[in-house]
Amino acid sequence: MKISTLPIVFISVITLSTCGKSDANTASSAPAPTPQAQSTAASAPTESPVAVMSPAERGAKVYKRCKACHTINAGGKNRVGPNLWGIVGKQAGQAEGFAYSKAMENSDVIWTEENLSAYLLKPTDFLPGGRMAFAGLKKEEDREAVIAYIKAESETPAE
Ligand code: HEC
Repeated sequence: MKISTLPIVFISVITLSTCGKSDANTASSAPAPTPQAQSTAASAPTESPVAVMSPAERGAKVYKRCKACHTINAGGKNRVGPNLWGIVGKQAGQAEGFAYSKAMENSDVIWTEENLSAYLLKPTDFLPGGRMAFAGLKKEEDREAVIAYIKAESETPAE
């Protein structure tokens, strides 16, 4: 009895598996739904409302942190810190009528963009004994932006 049932089971397994295969074939050959045209239209790039700041905007924003102590306009007053008009490329410690620290006065620093960037990163590291009470700008982008801003503002001619 047992021996005679075995081929029947065997055959039915084969039939089932071929059945399954043909099922799979029909499924995969069925036309795929095509909502693609619609979905590409819907996912068209949309402008993010969170505006990315332009370098100039960033520079102006960073400069707000300098404003308490510095003016940037041509012939501007010295405040807690000296006027910064045209400072890029100049020798340090030359603003007329400003009482610099000895460290700044005696330094032979030229304010190249590299030196400015190093000074603005951490004023006390760049110029030990200096008097600029400013923690520094950790982000390189901020330093670059504010230096670019100072340069751009310095293009305004002296009155
Ligand atoms: C709390 C006031 C204060 C703030 C804020 C400040 N500074 Fe100054 N800054 C000074 C003082 C004071 C000096 C003079 C330092 C000295 O004599 O050692 C100075 C000097 C400088 C100098 C050298 C000027 C020269 O004539 O050689 C530059 C450049 C400068 N600051 C840029 C900046 C920038 C850019 C910022 C903003 C990111 C800034 N400072 C923020 C007070 C400030």
